[in-house]
Amino acid sequence: MGITCRLNHFAPRSIGPTLLLGLSTMLLLSARRSSADGLNDSGPWTRDLCSYKWEAIDQHNKVKYTLKLCESSPDTTCGVGVAVCAVNLTTQKGQSVGEVSLQKLSDTVWDFNTTSQCNGSTTNVQSSISFQCGKTMGTPEFVTVSQCVHYFEWRSYAACKNQKFKPAKEVPCYVFDTDGHKHDLTPLIKMTTGYLVEDADNSVDLYINICRSLGRYPNVQPDRDNVV
Ligand SMILES: *[C@@H]1O[C@H](CO)[C@@H](O)[C@H](O)[C@H]1NC(C)=O
Ligand SMILES: *[C@@H]1O[C@H](CO)[C@@H](O)[C@H](O)[C@H]1NC(C)=O
Ligand SMILES: *[C@@H]1O[C@H](CO)[C@@H](O)[C@H](O)[C@H]1NC(C)=O
Ligand SMILES: *[C@@H]1O[C@H](CO)[C@@H](O)[C@H](O)[C@H]1NC(C)=O
Repeated sequence: MGITCRLNHFAPRSIGPTLLLGLSTMLLLSARRSSADGLNDSGPWTRDLCSYKWEAIDQHNKVKYTLKLCESSPDTTCGVGVAVCAVNLTTQKGQSVGEVSLQKLSDTVWDFNTTSQCNGSTTNVQSSISFQCGKTMGTPEFVTVSQCVHYFEWRSYAACKNQKFKPAKEVPCYVFDTDGHKHDLTPLIKMTTGYLVEDADNSVDLYINICRSLGRYPNVQPDRDNVV
């Protein structure tokens, strides 16, 4: 009884507007979410991926792929115009499986065609990179080859709407060991802070991160001299 009475008396003025505000914020958020993640060729995101030459490996067939997504990217060993260079690790012979000039970007898939006919198929040799939104720059992962189409998957902040996870600076974060196995180090990247490391000097907190600029760290005052 008492509760009902209080609600009737106080709710309309004090809680009502807050509830309404909260509800409209939620609606706005869900409206933004519903637009699918997609690539944007004219946006600044390409600059990050274009700055590097990327590598992926097909362990089963012993093929190493080198990817050059843009004209401005470093060349592969297959030559200037080649976007996807497949090197047979047994023979060390390289073959173009995608040309920079024959690219097509549609939504989240970036295709690179070639002019070589696929034996036993009507299609040409080509590569297809499927992007998904991710928290780091990510790395291309080889998926499969089917009918001369070389498929890759790439989870990257570059494919996110509204630059959701875009850092100030990030660099490719994977290594190949001596056996040619690829190790993705992106799970080690700290998103919001850095790693607090031991330091002989007790008066400072030393933070480090790998492959990415340090995020915000709440206990550090930017205007003090304890920022590294
Ligand atoms: C792509 O991004 C640019 C800059 O961020 C923006 O001006 C443009 O409208 C976007 N295009 C599409 C198709 O989303
Ligand atoms: C790589 O070259 C070897 C030797 O010529 C060949 O047997 C093998 O099929 C080639 N691998 C691929 C994936 O084409
Ligand atoms: C690839 O290029 C060939 C001609 O070189 C063309 O016939 C074919 O339709 C292209 N494929 C795609 C998927 O763009
Ligand atoms: C198709 O077959 C020919 C002759 O066997 C060979 O020279 C060529 O490299 C093959 N092309 C592809 C894309 O495998």
